[in-house]
Amino acid sequence: MTDAHILTIEGLTVGYGSIRVLEDVSLNIPEGRITAVVGPNGAGKSTLLHALAGTAPVQAGRVLFGGQDIVGLAPYQRSRRGIMRTFQMPADFGRLTVLENLLLADRSVGGTGFAQVFTRPRRSWLPGQREAVARARKLLAEFGLEAKENDYMGDLSGGQRRILELLRAVTTEPRMLLLDEPFAGVHASIIERISDFLVQLRDRGISILMVAHELDAVERLTDAVVVMARGQVLFEGSMAAARREKEVVDAYVAG
Ligand SMILES: Nc1ncnc2c1ncn2[C@@H]1O[C@H](COP(=O)(O)OP(=O)(O)O)[C@@H](O)[C@H]1O
Ligand SMILES: [Mg+2]
Repeated sequence: MTDAHILTIEGLTVGYGSIRVLEDVSLNIPEGRITAVVGPNGAGKSTLLHALAGTAPVQAGRVLFGGQDIVGLAPYQRSRRGIMRTFQMPADFGRLTVLENLLLADRSVGGTGFAQVFTRPRRSWLPGQREAVARARKLLAEFGLEAKENDYMGDLSGGQRRILELLRAVTTEPRMLLLDEPFAGVHASIIERISDFLVQLRDRGISILMVAHELDAVERLTDAVVVMARGQVLFEGSMAAARREKEVVDAYVAG
């Protein structure tokens, strides 16, 4: 592949005390594509994402994001540079509307600003707040969710909520998203909707690195695949090449 790489991982070693979870992992993640990380339970997939987001103890190695080593940076510094992981929304957020949830995720509205947006009449919103509301509405419209603006999060289906979690991350205009099992716990019929949504994100130029077990979705969605087992990378390459290698497929199916 002649792709540019958004992320270059070199000799990454992660451990908790004397427990080694990732052992000398090196990888190139292509820019503007969806890359799947697959492998059996305990392989270290989630730990890899944590290490990239800044929430796992890196013992050695470098992570170059857009050419700069981010290993020493705190999670918030990484997300400001554009590498974001998504979070499940706490149950309390169910009492906020879809629009309010997006505003909470918008850095420019953060701090004390957002309380005003929720509690004051629209007339008294500051220009920056008005812009944030306009941005959130535009985002909802782009993904055909404008009718949901005033729905309470708590009333959404599991799949819709998952999509909103992704939209919250998109609000910050990331360059790269880290997704740990975006299809877990959602109904099979919704996997396709989320898949379509991920393709829309990719087509906006967002690079996606996602851990997933759902073979069909992975095959349909991904441009590149990383197979992990026991803290190491067994294979890195195109989906087609992965299928040709029996050992790889075996490890993958075991996941
Ligand atoms: N905070 C932690 N402390 C100690 N061991 C951990 C911690 N997090 C993960 N591990 C260990 O690292 C290994 C890989 O875990 P994980 O990255 O969650 O795997 P996967 O996501 O591929 O299922 C497991 O053996 C797990 O027990
Ligand atoms: Mg995991």
